[in-house]
Amino acid sequence: MTTADLCNLLYQYIMKSTLKKIGILTSGGDSPGMNAAIRAVVRTAIYYGIDVYAIRRGYQGMIEGDIHKMETTDVANIIGRGGTILKTARSKEFMTKEGMQKAYNQLQQHGIEALVLIGGDGTFRGAVEFFESFTIPAVGLPGTIDKDLSGTDSTIGFDTAVNTAVEAIDKIRDTAEAHDRLFVVEVMGRDAGYIAINSGISCGAEDILIPEQERNMDEILDRIDHDERRKKTVHILVVAEGEELGGAKEVYDRVKERFPMLDTRTCVLGHIQRGGSPSFADRVLASRLGYASVLALMENKTQVMLGIINGEIAYTPFTNVIKQNAPMSKDMLDMIRVLSV
Ligand code: F6P
Repeated sequence: MTTADLCNLLYQYIMKSTLKKIGILTSGGDSPGMNAAIRAVVRTAIYYGIDVYAIRRGYQGMIEGDIHKMETTDVANIIGRGGTILKTARSKEFMTKEGMQKAYNQLQQHGIEALVLIGGDGTFRGAVEFFESFTIPAVGLPGTIDKDLSGTDSTIGFDTAVNTAVEAIDKIRDTAEAHDRLFVVEVMGRDAGYIAINSGISCGAEDILIPEQERNMDEILDRIDHDERRKKTVHILVVAEGEELGGAKEVYDRVKERFPMLDTRTCVLGHIQRGGSPSFADRVLASRLGYASVLALMENKTQVMLGIINGEIAYTPFTNVIKQNAPMSKDMLDMIRVLSV
């Protein structure tokens, strides 16, 4: 064992015995599985003798000092519940220097020594700005249905949201078949098309429009025309909300303009994609990451988001996590049209 290894071990020992109080918050849009992550963090911390403080309503609660001690019983029976027991918010005040200063003062007053941040892109953007001015150890967990973060193969809530969209689109196909209709279905995902492409492929959508792939509306309409000529009477177009041609309404208008005779409808799935009981995949992901996040803090691996890449826990600096979406797999893009023939 080298001297450096010995120093490292000693440091970890000191951290384990000195870290006494951590704060946990959920921020931004909620996602199914956040509760499972909270449960894992709280129970792991308490197991290692660390007190956990709930910071309610994300960064806004941090500013307002909405901070309360948690016990293991507070997280009983929440692993299967959607939403977040900590509540969440998108705080404008936290984006200001004054807001950040207030938040930091509250952490100091409550003796919070380290933070676990659960959220998506906005949460980590906020974290990066905060840590430019204030020093406090922190780790992040990817909690977003959008899967728009790098440093992890999936995010907490993504699997459940896609399953919800699939269930809904399957139902839409039933009624579309009954009436020979064309449906434009809009799914969430903000600037990313992961929910759209995964739900679209799973439901056998005739076309899928995502921000990651530039498309020409005339070409999309030509395809509908081609399908109609060969008596394909049902069309499901899945459109990501961040798609550049616009959302479902814009696509619907263009379809209606070219094919006034087609019986066409739109359906915006909206926030149902954010709710519901998390899938087993999201529960396991959240539990693994929640557990590992406390160990990471004890081992002084900080200012990183934890993810799972190829089955293993991965640690990515907050700055690298933001808006570096993993590229969409080319085979997925290529096969959309082939499979809808
Ligand atoms: O980031 C999660 C998400 O659900 C996005 O898919 C969507 O664009 C956005 O949040 C909706 O935000 P809000 O709940 O504030 O309407």
